[in-house]
Amino acid sequence: MVAATGSSRDGWSSRTGFVLAAVGAAVGLGNLVRFPAEAAANGGGAFVLFYIFCILLIGLPIMLAETLIGRHGQASATESVKKMAEESKASTAWSGLAGLGILSAFMILAFYCVIGGWVLYYIGIFVADLFQSGVTGGALQNMTPEGIKEIFPTLLEKGWLMALLDAVFVLVTVYFVARGVSGGIEVASVWLMPAFFMLLLGITIYGAFGGAFGEAVSYLFTVDFSKLTGDVMLAAIGQAFFSLSLGVAGMMTYGSYVGKEVNLAKTSTMISFADTSVALVAGLCIFPIVLAAGLSSDGGLGLMFDVLPHAFQSMPAGSLIGLAFFVMVGFAALTSSVSLMEGPTAWTMGKFDMSRAKAATLVASMALLLGVASAYSFNAISDFHPLGFIPLFEGEGVFSVLDSVTAKLFMPIGALLTAIFVGWVADRQLVDAENGLDGGLHQFWRFLVRWVCPLALTAILIVGIFPSILGS
Ligand code: TRP
Repeated sequence: MVAATGSSRDGWSSRTGFVLAAVGAAVGLGNLVRFPAEAAANGGGAFVLFYIFCILLIGLPIMLAETLIGRHGQASATESVKKMAEESKASTAWSGLAGLGILSAFMILAFYCVIGGWVLYYIGIFVADLFQSGVTGGALQNMTPEGIKEIFPTLLEKGWLMALLDAVFVLVTVYFVARGVSGGIEVASVWLMPAFFMLLLGITIYGAFGGAFGEAVSYLFTVDFSKLTGDVMLAAIGQAFFSLSLGVAGMMTYGSYVGKEVNLAKTSTMISFADTSVALVAGLCIFPIVLAAGLSSDGGLGLMFDVLPHAFQSMPAGSLIGLAFFVMVGFAALTSSVSLMEGPTAWTMGKFDMSRAKAATLVASMALLLGVASAYSFNAISDFHPLGFIPLFEGEGVFSVLDSVTAKLFMPIGALLTAIFVGWVADRQLVDAENGLDGGLHQFWRFLVRWVCPLALTAILIVGIFPSILGS
């Protein structure tokens, strides 16, 4: 294993390895489930346009800010921020922003792997169905539409099964993380991402011929500016962050394995472009199928786990497409869960001077414990509301608290602190030496990180938190 930096520290074997791993981290359930669902819930075109705007003006600058902190530090996220703070003669308490990020990544990891387990379950269903319904027929031929509607709720009733599938998904994730940066994470991404792209294109082309493609295009790209309300804008910013994996120090950790010769402005642009393209193509993959079947969705997880299986029933070669679809989702989810586990693992290694394998196993075991609690929060312990005393999280069980706390609070706070740290606190020369920008673009990036990002993020936090505190 050759470190890209020339030191004994593990690193990406090449720039392509880094870009694929970072694209793997970014592309996940957020693109395939959350983006189409949010677009559906927020008026289509106006949301999509504003989302692209957010990626360019907020997501991309923060991605560069995060990766440059990591690359400068060449250490775990907390150590990297600490190093930059020390060299900038600022308080080392700033490393708390990375600590918060690592905690968030761990919390997301816990529930993300539960969803990964559901994906495994659906892969199982479609494999079995391929034998029953055959390759050419529609999927789930022996089931009534009512029966299909019951698949997801029935799964949610079985805590033990979800826990078991969660364990399998965690095990696969920890396998790649334990094998190291170039030998595990990069290998997974280099194989799975191209396979993912081929499946996505294949299913999209299928939908373009067999489904309601024109309808889907006009749905996603016809912009009605009257629909661009404050809520829609906030949903778009939140989606941009989740999709680019920002605000949880994950990109700092990935950046710390990058060699000095890599231009981070360019790689950040490539990663953001790839992630956004996948979200748009995922929309063009899923909506033609759903619209052609005359179905609609109110968004949320139901779009993938309830509406799509229905749609596959009325499609030629539906079982095959259904299987390919869930395999594709599984690949995307795996490269993301690997990225979520890496941040906490790198931190544990540095903090307790542990080997990678031990640290990864420790993180995985704890994520599994929390995952099992999340799985049972749909059934046996559904009445347990861990943060029920806070109005913002009233009535939410373990699974949804993990999601809400990170998405509504920790991620925006983490990103806000990162923007302030890089834009205002860190020594300008250190930052300028890492960012790979010059001239007007450099000025523009600085302006975005210093002003636009902090203001936009503060707005998200205020609008996201206050209404519920005020009880409206
Ligand atoms: N971005 C991934 C997705 O779209 C999920 C993800 C991976 C993530 N790492 C993250 C989200 C870090 C937030 C923070 O599914």
